[in-house]
Amino acid sequence: MHFNKLSGEVFYPSQEVIEKAHIKNWDELNEFATKDYLGFWEKMANELHWFQKWDKVLDDSQKPFYKWFTNAKVNVAYNCLDVHLKTPRRNKLALIWEGENGDLRTYSYHALHREVCKFANVLKSLGVNKGDRVTIYMGRIPEIIMAMLACARIGAIHSVVYGGFSVEALSERIEDSQSKVLVVADGAYQRGKIVPLKQIADEALQRCGTVENVLVVRRTGQPVNMEEGRDMWYHDLVNLPFITQNCSLEIMDAEDPLFILYTSGTTGKPKAILHTQGGYMVGVYTTLKYVFDIHEEDRYWCAADPGWITGHSYIVYGPLLNGATSFLYEGAPNYPYPNRWWSMIEKYGINILYTAPTAIRGLMRFGEAWVNRHDLSSLRLLGSVGEPINPEAWKWYYRVVGKEKCPIMDTWWQTETGMFMITPMPSVPLKPGSGTRPFPGIEMDVVDENGNSVKPNEEGYLVIKTPWPSMMRTIYKDPERYVNQYWSKFPGWYLTGDSARKDEDGYFWIIGRVDDVIKVSGYRLGTAEIESALVSHPAVAEAAAIGLPHEVKGNAIHAYVILKQGYEKSPHLAEELRQHVAHEVGPIAKPEHIEFVDSLPKTRSGKIMRRVLKARALGQDPGNISTLEE
Ligand code: WT7
Repeated sequence: MHFNKLSGEVFYPSQEVIEKAHIKNWDELNEFATKDYLGFWEKMANELHWFQKWDKVLDDSQKPFYKWFTNAKVNVAYNCLDVHLKTPRRNKLALIWEGENGDLRTYSYHALHREVCKFANVLKSLGVNKGDRVTIYMGRIPEIIMAMLACARIGAIHSVVYGGFSVEALSERIEDSQSKVLVVADGAYQRGKIVPLKQIADEALQRCGTVENVLVVRRTGQPVNMEEGRDMWYHDLVNLPFITQNCSLEIMDAEDPLFILYTSGTTGKPKAILHTQGGYMVGVYTTLKYVFDIHEEDRYWCAADPGWITGHSYIVYGPLLNGATSFLYEGAPNYPYPNRWWSMIEKYGINILYTAPTAIRGLMRFGEAWVNRHDLSSLRLLGSVGEPINPEAWKWYYRVVGKEKCPIMDTWWQTETGMFMITPMPSVPLKPGSGTRPFPGIEMDVVDENGNSVKPNEEGYLVIKTPWPSMMRTIYKDPERYVNQYWSKFPGWYLTGDSARKDEDGYFWIIGRVDDVIKVSGYRLGTAEIESALVSHPAVAEAAAIGLPHEVKGNAIHAYVILKQGYEKSPHLAEELRQHVAHEVGPIAKPEHIEFVDSLPKTRSGKIMRRVLKARALGQDPGNISTLEE
């Protein structure tokens, strides 16, 4: 294979990696997909099962409300499970699961299909119908995957809330989605302790009113409160004689909703990103197949949480659509010792590991010896997602974990995009810190305020210029916000909210968010959520949250608080406020530091200028402050 000379530090793929790869020649695929992107996606869609094919691949008559595979009939869960049952994959492992406490469970495709059908029948027995919303709030256990697929099978819309979120975050999401069923676990093991999920859910349910039934999956076995008539144990229902493993499936329109997933935006409440059955399926199937180069014999591990888009697309749907064997681990990476991950890679013979820079930096701190105790020679490919990976962490991952033979797939994408958008493939030369180029067939650019492409290596807005099948369709119940937030700054182009640079080789380098989103350990949080949690405390009059650089977390939250009259600032109160945010939003949102102030920098129209706070904290020039009120 011949590569053009590229600028900067470049890591070229080995002959071995290229020979194994589905896509040996990226340029060839890119040329085909660029010339005829609809043809490309149509070809990929044809690798999947449809009850009825489409009239049109793309209907763009009502931009930006794009429709893909119009009038096609499909069911994603059918493609994840049923299609494999008539093939040798029937008895292949779909899922290997290890609990933090050492519990082990495995499911073949046949077994997972059976469990999903039973789960779906339980949901039906609770009156869940096509189009109903079901909120799922659990840890990383097999039942979270079953619950999602059960919804998909019967056409219910799942809304998974990450198990690390807490009372207010959960209640707000249940309320907004108007879910009538909540599926919850009694608890989750995390770092040797139990996260009391059911207890948190009970408190959340006191603040919202749509849930009729709570389905409780037993994981930890600690006593929990069960409200008569409302709460039911999953194991009681699933063992009832009329719950069989036969469950008819709902034939869905390609554009019927598959799920909503809440994410943080520029202002206000988290928004429910809506994804649909057909296009989403085609997008995640294709990207996982080509980027993580899934082969029949692979054992693949995406170490994210099913509660985020990474988990939806690349723990649940992508691997199963590809008939892969995937691994799920419940707990913390360093529990009970910092070699936990490496020991599991060795034990299960994992070939592909996909994780976040924050996890890599965290494990890096414990030193190489922990990694080197284990035989990691099964690894073939590595992946990174969630935030820019600093070259130092990239190189450590490459050298210490991948032994300089595993290319790193640094994948840039978002909840909204549903699938990888800027990403290498195994046969692509890599530059540490860059996700390389857009996935074939997708046109992206870095532009200035007026929408003109900036010069190489200049910073600008990252935009997407062509539609793609797994794009979000709307914000659930708020189409106006969908248009305003994503499509109005540069009409016709999708605004990502990130700033980036593009180098002379066309490689993209992500700089970070340009809005009020803070990426903490790769988790996406909005300043508004943290601030409203602070203001819900009786002592707080006003609050502002910003992200400041942090060695392991990427960014850490710093909060500025104005107290109400009659309250005294103290270290004790600061700690109480931090705990309050953890209780309301979740431990991930707990501010690193709280500073009590007498005033906050605001514009004349009263908007907090977080940019000014950030510049001050970093000792930098705040830039243009002509709109500052005082
Ligand atoms: C934001 C989206 C966790 C799944 C994907 C995240 C940042 C994501 C990368 C990357 C640099 C990245 C961006 C993006 N981001 N991947 N490889 N390099 N930045 O989904 O939670 O919706 O967050 O994550 O800022 O806008 P998300």
